[in-house]
Amino acid sequence: MTGGCGGIGRAICERLNNEGATVYAADVSEQGSFDKGAQSGAQYVALDVTSEQSVIDLMEQIKNSDGRLDILINAAGIEIEKTIEHTSLEEWNRSFAVNVTGTFLTCKYALPLMREAATQGASASIINFGSYDGFIADPGLAAYCASKGAVHALTRAMACDHGPEGIRVNAICPGYIDTPMLQSFFNGDGSGGGGGDIESLQQAVRDVHPMRTYGTPADVANLVNWLASDEARYASGQLWVLDGGLSAQVQQMKL
Ligand SMILES: NC(=O)c1ccc[n+]([C@@H]2O[C@H](COP(=O)([O-])OP(=O)(O)OC[C@H]3O[C@@H](n4cnc5c(N)ncnc54)[C@H](O)[C@@H]3O)[C@@H](O)[C@H]2O)c1
Repeated sequence: MTGGCGGIGRAICERLNNEGATVYAADVSEQGSFDKGAQSGAQYVALDVTSEQSVIDLMEQIKNSDGRLDILINAAGIEIEKTIEHTSLEEWNRSFAVNVTGTFLTCKYALPLMREAATQGASASIINFGSYDGFIADPGLAAYCASKGAVHALTRAMACDHGPEGIRVNAICPGYIDTPMLQSFFNGDGSGGGGGDIESLQQAVRDVHPMRTYGTPADVANLVNWLASDEARYASGQLWVLDGGLSAQVQQMKL
């Protein structure tokens, strides 16, 4: 899985490893040192999803291993907290390079391996990471919202193209999940926070959720586990929103 050392990625690696999968925590940063982390069981591999060669090398490594590739999870992502006027072209391109092109590249080069797994009778499942921001916008996240909308459209298109080959493609669209990305949103200089009383802001955000809480990475890992499993054999081409009911409300929060 990409972004395997991030907040959501770690929980997914740990969960899938516990379920018996051989898991690669592929990430540009070894922040979590998965190679040392006996608790995750995942093997850290260096990957920059924006580099075509880096993706090709990883798929080659998997191909030459004993196992097969039947689950691909694209969770690598970055969030730039700016309106478009304050977003430089470089930042815009970087958002799309990681969130969209990265998903494109890993899917493109994983597909031959997944097709092979499907041919051997495995349930082949690609799980992309969109966001509820790809449906409705948080203020000050323009490039991020646009990039996640692109991931949603790509997910549907791939599901149509590769369903006949036995490969399911879905996207998980989290709302507020308590990870370093969320903390940086609260601490950052975008509209989400900065300068104010962070704890009051966090409580205010919890309070506008029908469930009155954020999600946890483990909540996301539960959905990933289902989408990756044979129980989800008929689930494809869908955008699975996991947001504690937030986007079901007519009135959205005012931060
Ligand atoms: N946390 C949330 O509330 C939330 C909400 C909606 C969507 N999401 C999405 O879920 C996914 C995971 O988010 P998270 O909260 O765990 O974020 P995170 O910042 O904790 O983790 C993201 C990971 O992606 C990795 N990454 C960044 N650029 C990369 C690159 N070029 N190549 C490889 N890896 C790279 C980072 O090193 C990091 O480990 C992201 O796609 C994010 O947009 C998160």
